Amino acid sequence: MTDTETNAEPDGGVEDATGSDETAATEVDPGAGPVPIADPELSEAALERVESLLADGRLADGPEVRAFEDEFAAYCGTDAGVATSNGTTALHAALEAIGLEDGDAVITSPFSFVASANAVRLAGGKPVFADIDPETYTLDPADVRRVLRERDDVVGLLPVHLYGLPADMAALCEIADDHDLFVLEDACQAHGAAVDGTRVGGFGDAACFSFYPTKNMTTAEGGMIVTDRDDVAERAASYVNHGRDVGGTGGYDHVELGHNYRMTSLEAAIGRAQLDRLAEHNRARRENAAVYDEALAEMPVETPTEPAGYRHVYHQYTVRTDDRDALAATLEERDVGTGIYYETPIHRQPAYETVSSAAAEFPVAERAADEVLSLPVHPTLSERDRRIVVEAVRDHFTTQ
Ligand SMILES: Cc1ncc(COP(=O)(O)O)c(C=O)c1O
Repeated sequence: MTDTETNAEPDGGVEDATGSDETAATEVDPGAGPVPIADPELSEAALERVESLLADGRLADGPEVRAFEDEFAAYCGTDAGVATSNGTTALHAALEAIGLEDGDAVITSPFSFVASANAVRLAGGKPVFADIDPETYTLDPADVRRVLRERDDVVGLLPVHLYGLPADMAALCEIADDHDLFVLEDACQAHGAAVDGTRVGGFGDAACFSFYPTKNMTTAEGGMIVTDRDDVAERAASYVNHGRDVGGTGGYDHVELGHNYRMTSLEAAIGRAQLDRLAEHNRARRENAAVYDEALAEMPVETPTEPAGYRHVYHQYTVRTDDRDALAATLEERDVGTGIYYETPIHRQPAYETVSSAAAEFPVAERAADEVLSLPVHPTLSERDRRIVVEAVRDHFTTQ
């Protein structure tokens, strides 16, 4: 359930997470959809910025990208930002910048988008999984400790703030301190999420964000590394630009192997305009979630958890039921978009058959994969859209 006591924004703004009485509404035309699962939307300001860059011919890397890096890092409360071509390249470049070496093991969640673990492999490391907490769907610190008792090759933790809810960073950072591990936050789904007023991005050695169109803010494709560590920022900025000497003259001095993972100015322009609206959009997501929490309370689905002190930003509003597939089918018939994130845990993916711990069992993640269903929670949902979603869920359970 959403804990409305804890939803103060870290920057002091307080959200109104109440909604209208959706539970009382029963007059929705059953075929009144469609209600899409995501609805990325660009403002006039974004379009104007893009047009002005197009007119100037400033298309690739440049001052617009530097401005976006500074603004996004400031939003996260970190010293530096390094923009990238997407969230996957952000994770890969961050691991290279942190200094992951061939064969190093990194503990991450099996219940995430495959990119979380792929990035470790791309950087030459070994993803090792620990199970998740059944309520929050994020890494279970107790299971991380179990894994650490069993192996001595782990050098870092890569927790995922899944669906917009921060992982248990207090416990995970304590474990990292005890075992001298780095922490890289996968914040690709959690722009603006926070714990006790600290925004994600500020807990570990570095954090990575995705700006894919369905995310809480977008640049079309794009990503960002944020960090307080100067060495990581410098190495990441170099890595995304073919190992160029970032302190140099701007010429073609390449001091290390790197890649072209750069963001374009056009993407940065969209990102700056989206960042201006992030607080408003996250408020709308939280308001939608509060309406669903209340309306679905009496139905046989588990609604999302928001532990005390946490600020969930509802990248997804994910319910849980052992009747998941039938519920998804009913919603599809009613033109309500849904998503299953994720139907196959990473360790069960064919691409992971030969990777360490693929044969291991993570029962909590595996059960979640069978039972989760995400409902539309994006900021452009109307009151009517929410009513359509709630009615469709209610009708599914009452007409069985
Ligand atoms: C948890 C997580 N990690 C990493 C990524 C990768 O981001 P991108 O798609 O921008 O490469 C995503 C994007 O879906 C994600 O959800």
